[in-house]
Amino acid sequence: MKVDVLLGLQWGDEGKGKIVDVLTPKYDIIGRFQGGPNAGHTLEFDGIKHVLHTIPSGIFHDDVANVVGNGVVIDPVILKKEIDALVAMNVDVNKKMFVSKKAHLILPTHRLLDAASEKAKGKEKIGSTLKGIGPTYMDKTGRNGLRVGDLFMSDFDARYNQLVEKHKQILKFHNYEYNLEELQADFDEGVKLLKSLTVIDSEHFVNEAMNNGQSVLAEGAQGTLLDVDFGSYPFVTSSNTTAAGTCTGLGIAPNKIGEVFGIFKAYCTRVGSGPFPTELFDEDGETLGTVGHEFGATTGRPRRCGWIDLPALKYAIMINGVTQLIMMKADVLDGFDTIKVCTHYDVDGEIIDYMPYDIVSTEVKPIYKELQGWKKDLTQLSSIDEVPAELNGYVEYLEQELNVPITIVSVGPDRKQTLMRESVLV
Ligand code: GDP
Ligand code: IMO
Ligand code: MG
Repeated sequence: MKVDVLLGLQWGDEGKGKIVDVLTPKYDIIGRFQGGPNAGHTLEFDGIKHVLHTIPSGIFHDDVANVVGNGVVIDPVILKKEIDALVAMNVDVNKKMFVSKKAHLILPTHRLLDAASEKAKGKEKIGSTLKGIGPTYMDKTGRNGLRVGDLFMSDFDARYNQLVEKHKQILKFHNYEYNLEELQADFDEGVKLLKSLTVIDSEHFVNEAMNNGQSVLAEGAQGTLLDVDFGSYPFVTSSNTTAAGTCTGLGIAPNKIGEVFGIFKAYCTRVGSGPFPTELFDEDGETLGTVGHEFGATTGRPRRCGWIDLPALKYAIMINGVTQLIMMKADVLDGFDTIKVCTHYDVDGEIIDYMPYDIVSTEVKPIYKELQGWKKDLTQLSSIDEVPAELNGYVEYLEQELNVPITIVSVGPDRKQTLMRESVLV
């Protein structure tokens, strides 16, 4: 069996958690391959909303293994909170979750370093979630990091203290004040729980499962435009959020990748700093934010909102080799008379249909095409056959422009508010 991948094509928060949960019954394994608790993946069913940060979004289903891959960075404090919340809802996390020995640990001092770095950047700050993601991946690539498997080694404490001392030196350089004592106690508690989980060689686990005919869905975090290589650098996260990240973050060979589900909102949002060509500062932007409840699932920050951006989506589809598109939050557009789609950018009079290299400093003016809105409540629909003609028009226009079929249209946050257009798995 091949591994299917589901990942975000915009700046994150496309609705990955919801769709992974919807697709989970078709799979034996759900695996996260990158990112960490900067992610906030929301699932809704039976009137209850759940937000997951580190734990894969298949956790609410029975008979599915949820793997936290080697490419993920884990904060034991946040993981403990997530697990406690799930256990309180009678979810048997211990039985259904497996953690890679090679996943790196987020230390309390990584979080402090994140805050110190953002403070030092002042107005130029990235708008990080301050979960310690950047500093942890820096230690990973700098070959100083600590991994889950190291927790079981006799020299762990010594290596931990050595790394913390190094971090303290950097914090001193930043003149950053902190109190480590309380953070340390929470970390120790989290580590205790983490050590009690099923810690595995996840690359072997996943490959053996595949060889035995089991199906795997890799769950991305963040979105393509936040990818450290292909996103709007430096306003990005510190991992490869793209399809290639599946290979390095779960130990899957490139020729084992099957379907690539690219997920996008029917409009666009971004949280944190950085370029956003179609961002709206008017009433329409406010409407998208209010109707779409656009507040960060991890930080609660308001998300910036704008119209859909085809040059950006085309780029994301190319980088990821997307085979199927999933369009989310169509219902948020219910009230609009017309819907705008950015087809090109105007850069100093030159009309282009790709993202320029220096998107951070270049003024990019979006060029829009207007499509007819449907002005109907989509949230109550239960079949794709019931959708208004104008929504079909919107979907078909996007398919034609993007040259990839849209197989799912989402019309509300609940599991049930999901309209299948074609058979999702070939
Ligand atoms: P993720 O990070 O990609 O998993 O997405 P988030 O959970 O951060 O953000 C998506 C938000 O949109 C969540 O609050 C979801 O409950 C909500 N959501 C998902 N799909 C839909 C949809 O089709 N319509 C509406 N109105 N909300 C949705
Ligand atoms: P999910 O998986 C949206 C953004 C932050 C910031 C930048 C860097 O829920 O889609 P970091 O904490 O990684 O140093 O932040 O990336 N960011 C996200 N935005 N959704 C996410 O995850 C994000 N994870 C990070 O807002 O701009
Ligand atoms: Mg999110």
